[in-house]
Amino acid sequence: MSDEDGSRASVDDDLEATEQRRIVRERYASVATDSSVDGGDSATSCCSGTDTGASAGDTDTVPSAGGTDTEPSAGDTGTGGSDSDSCCSGADGSANAFDATAQKMGYSEAALEAVEPGANLGLGCGNPTAIASLESGETVLDLGSGAGFDCFLAAREVGDEGRVIGVDMTPAMVEKARENAVKNEAENTSFRLGEIEHLPVADGTVDVIISNCVVNLSPDKSQVFREAFRVLRPGGRLAISDVVRTAEFPESVRLDSAAIAACIAGAERIATLESMLDVAGFEAISIEPKAESESFIREWDDDRDISEYIVSAQIEARKPDEE
Ligand SMILES: C[S@@+](CC[C@H](N)C(=O)[O-])C[C@H]1O[C@@H](n2cnc3c(N)ncnc32)[C@H](O)[C@@H]1O
Repeated sequence: MSDEDGSRASVDDDLEATEQRRIVRERYASVATDSSVDGGDSATSCCSGTDTGASAGDTDTVPSAGGTDTEPSAGDTGTGGSDSDSCCSGADGSANAFDATAQKMGYSEAALEAVEPGANLGLGCGNPTAIASLESGETVLDLGSGAGFDCFLAAREVGDEGRVIGVDMTPAMVEKARENAVKNEAENTSFRLGEIEHLPVADGTVDVIISNCVVNLSPDKSQVFREAFRVLRPGGRLAISDVVRTAEFPESVRLDSAAIAACIAGAERIATLESMLDVAGFEAISIEPKAESESFIREWDDDRDISEYIVSAQIEARKPDEE
């Protein structure tokens, strides 16, 4: 991250970006291939455990541009798994616990019931669809779409005339989201393999970008916002839920790769994010911390209270209209 953006010496100074992405991808491949999450009776996590074993089935929707080097390879899903505790989810890592935590994040019971089990993996830290004011016919892009939970909610709001594109760099997640799209009969959704720093999406084609607890995982957040700006149409908007840093991490957290993959150590200061959005060209920038997130962030780590360092926030911004 450059000084030009006003950013601190960040995690990518401590850990090579490639290595960071590898660790993150490994984590979420493990989550995606944990078969227990569909049934919801054993633990899974976004924030702990690093088992791998990811594989992904064949694909029918390929990245149009800028996808990752790691293409999905043939194979099963539902293998591998994590024996970890939960942190970005409820205490017992079950589907019910995910739903309970999701309600704390602002998802209504009706919304949770509207999506088939297996899409909400308890990986979010807010509810971006609640702040996106989606309208029928809009094109929505979800950065780091995971198993597709927010995409399926957005798909209901934009209707048959609209569409939702999910982008995720973890092949097993993309595969899981595609399976979930079939289960949810969400024909207006598609899922692409790619990095949010190099979006596989054409310029100026998106009305609204949503994202849930993902930008913190990027080793180059400025590049994410530049890409978001590129793919939005003039007047398009950004509605993101993510964690932001409120206090300096102890070195033991800052340099811990597991804490980066766990949506903790990569969190940036609000002022830094504002500066990055500004430099990318956005206007009407608003980053609002949600104090109520303390109740679930406190559960993310058994050993320390992470809510002393991070809070969930709503990040909103707008690409200016054409002159
Ligand atoms: C914490 S999970 C959130 C998933 C989803 N947004 C949700 O709320 O369920 C983070 C997701 O972002 C993906 N991800 C992380 N860094 C990424 C990057 N640089 N580019 C694309 N996807 C990324 C991971 O593969 C994972 O599926």
